[in-house]
Amino acid sequence: MKRSLRIFSTPQDLAQSLALDLIRQIKEADTIVNHFTIALSGGNTPKLLFSVLADKFSGTVNWKNVHFFWVDERCVPPEDSESNFGMTNEVLFTKIKIPQENIHRIKGEDDPIKEAERYSKEIIDFTVKRNGLPFFDIMLLGLGEDGHTASIFPGNEKLFLSDKICAAAVHPSTGQERITITGKVINNAASVFFLVTGKNKAAIVNNILGEHKNKKQFPASFVKPTDGRLLWYVDEEAGALIKK
Ligand code: 6PG
Repeated sequence: MKRSLRIFSTPQDLAQSLALDLIRQIKEADTIVNHFTIALSGGNTPKLLFSVLADKFSGTVNWKNVHFFWVDERCVPPEDSESNFGMTNEVLFTKIKIPQENIHRIKGEDDPIKEAERYSKEIIDFTVKRNGLPFFDIMLLGLGEDGHTASIFPGNEKLFLSDKICAAAVHPSTGQERITITGKVINNAASVFFLVTGKNKAAIVNNILGEHKNKKQFPASFVKPTDGRLLWYVDEEAGALIKK
């Protein structure tokens, strides 16, 4: 596994640089054969990246070749303020020319177990396979202060060993139901990006990238791409405790 860490002085610089890297990868990818597949995370941190893509790069890519999926979703309707799809649609998709059929959303309004099965089938039917598993060009991950990523929370690390493609989950402190892509599919991607900003994440970033004795309690520490690259993009505040 190739792992790299880039620390940016501001979240804006990070979003600009990551947007450039994503656009470059989309352009370099041979989309004649296969579509370029990106699985997105939700939460607050990706909003800046999505607005930079919409404001600065909407016309520089043929979005017809790009298919968007979600790493996880909250079990709420798409118009709900908690919806990861809803946020991305408002900040990005309504501002770029992308065919509706390229947007593969998780139906958070449906029964979590049934939707996890349905979405697994949609992923299996659409993606190419590598190592017998669905293959994504890009996985965009976030990081919770408790070390969760996607909707794989502490105590649920077994989702990194599961043969399921997607699973239902529950947020340990809010009780919110979630649907998440599982660990083997995350680790099967070509490029796995962690996008992390803010001083509230400094301790957990250092726990995972530093010498913490018991990293295994943090689900994000299980993100180790099988053949792909692992790229940490953090701002100075989130990277403040990492020994340079
Ligand atoms: C979600 C996410 C989740 C997120 C982290 C960080 O749906 O909430 O996909 O894994 O990436 O919770 O969230 P913030 O970016 O809001 O800190």
